[in-house]
Amino acid sequence: MSFSQDDKNIIENARTLLSEAGIWDVESDLESLVDRYLERNNKEQARNEFMLAVYERCNRIPLGHIVNSINFDGLPLIVGSGVFIPRTHSQLIHKWIDKESDIPFNSTVLDLCSGCGAIGLAIAKRRPDLNVVCVEYDTVAFQYLVRNINRLSNLSIKAQALQTDLRDSRSLDKFEESVSLVVANPPYVPERVSILPEWEEHHPYISVYSGDDGLDLIRTIVTQSKKYLKKNGWLVIEHHENQQNNIRSLFLKEGFSQVRTIMDENFSDTTGLSVITVGNK
Ligand SMILES: C[S@@+](CC[C@H](N)C(=O)[O-])C[C@H]1O[C@@H](n2cnc3c(N)ncnc32)[C@H](O)[C@@H]1O
Repeated sequence: MSFSQDDKNIIENARTLLSEAGIWDVESDLESLVDRYLERNNKEQARNEFMLAVYERCNRIPLGHIVNSINFDGLPLIVGSGVFIPRTHSQLIHKWIDKESDIPFNSTVLDLCSGCGAIGLAIAKRRPDLNVVCVEYDTVAFQYLVRNINRLSNLSIKAQALQTDLRDSRSLDKFEESVSLVVANPPYVPERVSILPEWEEHHPYISVYSGDDGLDLIRTIVTQSKKYLKKNGWLVIEHHENQQNNIRSLFLKEGFSQVRTIMDENFSDTTGLSVITVGNK
């Protein structure tokens, strides 16, 4: 679409405002906002809504909470206030699945702490044979999860949603010894650690923080996963690079083998390096 001089001026103004507000990838955010708000026929309304969105972004509201959609690994997902916005970090899980895993045909996969369902649905897209179960506790996040699952079923991408609290040690008992792969991008930031306002102020606390060292829920997941996994099943957890030694220790303590931390700058962003630890039961 070609822009009038008025549009060009408004885009330039937005570029300056976003930059002054400390937004780290101004061009990428600007592209999403222009795409969402400015490329419309009613120009006056479009420009007003575009600038309101720019001001919200300058107040560090996460982009996904403004535009209400995100493309994750080619999947058009609905997101918004109250749910964690998936990050490219998590695509390292899918790269590992594509290149290194040996998940048997027709087996069951758990995506724990599923949020809007990005990780589980991207697995279901590449492996339609798998029975993918997305597990989420928070009611608002669960609503986005159900919505995305229902939406994407129209593209023949199938997954199930299960609302449960992983802190309840019996919550997933029905999966005992029946799962070939558990994946999770859990909350892992230590309480009282200050992070970018997009996450500290505007994401649900439960989606970001987890105890004094950030490892409360990860400890639970590593212990519980041992119960759900079949022999030779895999556990894959996304976390911060500073946590790698502690997390490998947790895996080893629970008897996992082939324990390895993988990092990939290609999926990293301003929040840090993309990091996962994998282990085999
Ligand atoms: C970091 S977010 C990740 C969401 C999603 N996997 C993604 O990458 O977009 C962590 C998610 O864990 C969920 N969660 C936190 N505590 C939980 C618990 N005790 N049981 C189940 N889910 C929980 C949060 O509601 C949040 O949706």
